[in-house]
This record gives sequence, structure tokens and C-alpha cells, in this order.
Amino acid sequence: MTRSPNVTIFADKAAACRSLAAELAKLIRETNATGRSVVLGLATGSTPIPLYQELIRLHSEEGLSFSQVITFNLDEYLGLERQHPESYWTFMHRQLFDHVDIPAENIHIPSGTVGDVAAHCAEYEAAIEAAGGIDFQLLGIGRTGHIGFNEPGSPRDSRTRRIELDPVTREDAAPAFGGLDKVPTHAITMGCGTILAARRIGLLAFGAHKAAIVREAIEGPVTDQVSASFLQDHPDACFYLDRAAAGQL
Ligand code: F6R
Repeated sequence: MTRSPNVTIFADKAAACRSLAAELAKLIRETNATGRSVVLGLATGSTPIPLYQELIRLHSEEGLSFSQVITFNLDEYLGLERQHPESYWTFMHRQLFDHVDIPAENIHIPSGTVGDVAAHCAEYEAAIEAAGGIDFQLLGIGRTGHIGFNEPGSPRDSRTRRIELDPVTREDAAPAFGGLDKVPTHAITMGCGTILAARRIGLLAFGAHKAAIVREAIEGPVTDQVSASFLQDHPDACFYLDRAAAGQL
């Protein structure tokens, strides 16, 4: 049976990110109090930047510690060195990791330059399992309905793997790369199955340009043509929207 995901509509993205940051801070503090590490699945892109800024503020002003937080990022472009300005390694360090007390060994981001991609993906899956699975998975949504880089056609039970980026996704990334020809054609992404195995999932979407795909994800059929629609079947998935992104619901 299909269940509706939980949807919360906020006045603006700042309010949505403050709310989610408070939720994550509570999860981190409560889990650490029991002596366990928290495992977070993290996303890149423009959407989560205000969330990361609020988490940094909670760290510097309210003593939130990331010393017992373990992270797994959703994806990385294939062919980019860590130091490339558009790599997700660079993004995560600039936007979050360089500003909090997370131990370097707790950070996991797929490699964009690994030789044996299949073995690397299998190791990534094994590392998530060894950490006890993902407590909270943060997501954005692409115009193709992708979560991670699970482009249309990605099976529900797919795991971490190499994927060809959809032309729409590459077009959206072109300005940041300074031209479509500079955007990588492939990436490594956690699979839909990897994401759906998280105990709780939060998808952030802001702006009118996300409204149509947000409607399809929440109210449309569950289909591999819109990976985010798989969240309808997850027992604890929540959409954090601003008014514009919720405009077609
Ligand atoms: C990022 C990711 C993608 C983005 C999505 C939205 O790690 O996996 O699914 O969340 O493409 O990107 P923005 O936030 O830039 O609109």
C-alpha cells in the first residue's frame, strides 16, 4: 500500500532549515547520550546550504558537537579529483566539515577518481552497513525527480553504483562548471535502495522551479521515472518545503 509522505510547508527556506537543523541537533545529542554515534547521509547542491550554515551556528554558538557523527554523502562526479572546485568533496568541506569538529575518518564521500568503481561502490555499501545503517538521510530533488543521482529508470532496489547523468541534470550543472562540455557525464551515487534503507529521510525543496517535480514525487504514481516517488512507500520520510515548492500540491 502507498502511504503519503509527511509534508511540512514553511514560510521560507530559512525556517525550513532551522527546523531540520534543530531536529538533527536533537538526534545527535540524544543518540550520543546513549553512547552511540549518529550516522547521517548528506546531500550537496544549493538546497542544503542554509541547513549547513545553521548546523555550523549550532556548533559554534550552542556547543553542538559532531565528534560522534559519521557521514556518508550521496554522490560524487566521476572524473573529478577531490581538489576540483566543483567536486562534492570540496563542497562538503567548504560548506560544513571545515567548520565543525567532525573527525576526518568519520567522513565518507564516494571517490571520483577510483580505478575499480564496482569494488569501491561495494566497499561504500559495506561501510554504511558496518556503521549500523543510516539514521537520517538528507535529500534534495533534481528536475528529473532524482534523489542522489538516481536518474529516471533507476530501480527501487538499486545500490551504490556508477550512473550516467541525465542531460537535464548536466544542463542544470553547466553554469557552475562554466559550460556544458565541462560537466562530467557520469557519477557514483548511492542507489534508491541504499537511500530507502535509511531509518528516517528528509527531503528539502525550495523555489517555484521545484514545484512541478515535488507534486509528481508526492502526488504522482510511484515510478522509477521519478526516483523521489519511492519515498511515498517509506515509513518515515518527510518533505520540508517552502511555499513556492509546495505551490502545485
Ligand atoms: C546532491 C544530490 C542531488 C541534488 C539535486 C538538487 O548530492 O544528490 O540529488 O540534491 O540535484 O540540487 P540543488 O539543491 O542544487 O537544486
